[in-house]
Amino acid sequence: MVTLVAKKLYIKTYGCQMNVYDTVRMTDVLTPLGYKTVDSPEGADMVILNTCHIREKASEKVFSELGLLRRMKDKREAAGERMLIGVAGCVAQAEGEEILRRVKQVDMVFGPQTYHRLPEMVTQALGNTSGRGISDTDFPVESKFDFLPEESNHQGPAAFLSVQEGCDKFCTFCVVPYTRGAEFSRPVASILEEARRLVANGTREITLLGQNVNGFHGEAPDGSNWKLGRLLRELAEIDGLGRLRYTTSHPNDMDDELIATHADLASLMPYMHLPIQSGSDRILEMMNRKHTADKYRKIIDKLRTAVPGLSLSSDFIVGFPGETDQDFADTLRLVTDVSYAQSYSFKYSPRPGTPAAGIEAQVPEDVKSRRLAMLQELLSAQHLAFNQGTVGKTLSVLLERKGRAENQLGGRSPYMQSVFVKAPERLMGQVVDVKIETANPNSLTGTVVTGDYENVGAQAANLTGTGMEVRI
Ligand code: SAH
Ligand code: SF4
Ligand code: F3S
Repeated sequence: MVTLVAKKLYIKTYGCQMNVYDTVRMTDVLTPLGYKTVDSPEGADMVILNTCHIREKASEKVFSELGLLRRMKDKREAAGERMLIGVAGCVAQAEGEEILRRVKQVDMVFGPQTYHRLPEMVTQALGNTSGRGISDTDFPVESKFDFLPEESNHQGPAAFLSVQEGCDKFCTFCVVPYTRGAEFSRPVASILEEARRLVANGTREITLLGQNVNGFHGEAPDGSNWKLGRLLRELAEIDGLGRLRYTTSHPNDMDDELIATHADLASLMPYMHLPIQSGSDRILEMMNRKHTADKYRKIIDKLRTAVPGLSLSSDFIVGFPGETDQDFADTLRLVTDVSYAQSYSFKYSPRPGTPAAGIEAQVPEDVKSRRLAMLQELLSAQHLAFNQGTVGKTLSVLLERKGRAENQLGGRSPYMQSVFVKAPERLMGQVVDVKIETANPNSLTGTVVTGDYENVGAQAANLTGTGMEVRI
């Protein structure tokens, strides 16, 4: 009798949510080949690093991780065992050849747009005796989405769904247009199908993903073109899908239709990640962002009028080449005026091949560090103030993960805050009402106040219930 032993697959994911989505989809592609995911590289038959190239530190991690993996593989091979190493994602796309040259134990490098071809690559790699790994970093004309399996390994109440990929905006600091390729929107029908399947498998919240997700313009079933607002309205009709989010948006693609959609759809959560990067018009121009700080402020005003209490988030870069104290002061002023519930801030990191890396007037490291510390102090105080403003309120929380403490579950409020509660595990996947009790800059704690736990399922069916009516 032949027993089929599952092959062990370990994937380590770096970078943005799109990589998190891609990792799930890679497992979907490899499942029919008999691979099952495990949570450690020890003893795995295949290890894939799904990498990020956005800043120097992110890229460096890949080579240090490969240093550990190559030793692991050498030991395994000495014991007569096989272990495939794959490098996927944005570093593979940008530096695939360099990786193969430097680490001969790497069997495959492949980019974000070619992982649907993994079955062929694996077969090829297993029979490869050339002593050099194989590489597939094309930007193929076919879309990977047309080749990914219908069945997905995604499990859990909250899911990512990529609807748009790539970027044509070419901000002067950014590698994404080079690593992900040109902007592409998926056809509406395949997005709706994937969303329905996720919901049928228990997903209650979907976050639509794209490098410029609000630039989405996908072909609709009737041959017309739908923008993001229209797509969201259609998704909101799916029974059981109580919560919708999307990220990341670009200010230039934030149109009135999309803003109106926020006012109309109760299931569209009142949180918006809208990166500005800098508050200085001079720097914004050098970054090729193609908008001013004032334009951004006007969009924020419109959004806040449409959705009172909307929580806002942004990305910031400090120390872009040529940034003066005055430019930085403009950023601090903008942050003070807008006030953010969350944010991500970084020191500018010169990326090879991007225009800004070639500008002579690079800002010294100590200046960057000082500015980042000042900015983060201001932002952190704003995050805390926002979170403290919810203490005493009741918010709806989708419980989606275990907390660190015993009997603790964690989830997100409508405003994207992390909330932890003491609750039995059977509430996992439910939307419950939580009375918020404590706040720190990054998370909240509270008590589930949904009257009767047994009824939570019934309440969850009406996800726009009490929690959503609470506005801050
Ligand atoms: N598409 C999104 C951002 C994608 S990259 C947008 O347009 O806003 C995520 C964030 O990484 C960026 O918003 C930016 O703040 C940061 N980032 C990108 N390149 C960087 C670099 N070279 N140095 C430092 N931060 C960078
Ligand atoms: Fe990068 Fe700019 Fe494109 Fe965002 S819009 S992915 S920052 S080039
Ligand atoms: Fe990183 Fe690529 Fe995402 S560079 S941020 S993994 S698009």
